[in-house]
Amino acid sequence: MLNDIDHIAIAVNDLEAAIDWYATTLGAEVVHREEVASDGVREALLRAGSSYIQLLSPLSDTSPVARFLATRGEGLHHVGYRVDDCAEALQSFRDAGARLIDEHPRPGSRGTTIAFVHPKGAFGTLVELVQVGDLDEHPRPGLG
Ligand code: CO
Repeated sequence: MLNDIDHIAIAVNDLEAAIDWYATTLGAEVVHREEVASDGVREALLRAGSSYIQLLSPLSDTSPVARFLATRGEGLHHVGYRVDDCAEALQSFRDAGARLIDEHPRPGSRGTTIAFVHPKGAFGTLVELVQVGDLDEHPRPGLG
């Protein structure tokens, strides 16, 4: 069911400063940018092998990421696991008694299908299940 770490998401106050820092320290390149209005975030994806570092900053003061930054500060926000079938993986979490944030899979960035599992009952980590989308069907170097 689990194919890879799709991304680790890091909440930051200043997206451009964080992008510059990752470029300088790790030579990490931005391969995709997107604003996800439904989640209230602006994201940048930086390649890390077959996975991504996803830098997240809030689009507004009321977005969940803004609340995260206000209460916990910058840092690791969630881990995205790449799965073949988001609905099947979500059902597996449901069967295990996990507390779900999304009862059903929904569209994510870059054409993915995603669902979130609550950190309470998931050993303190917000989990995102990521079924790859159209953009990821192409060879990674062509992404974005
Ligand atoms: Co994510």
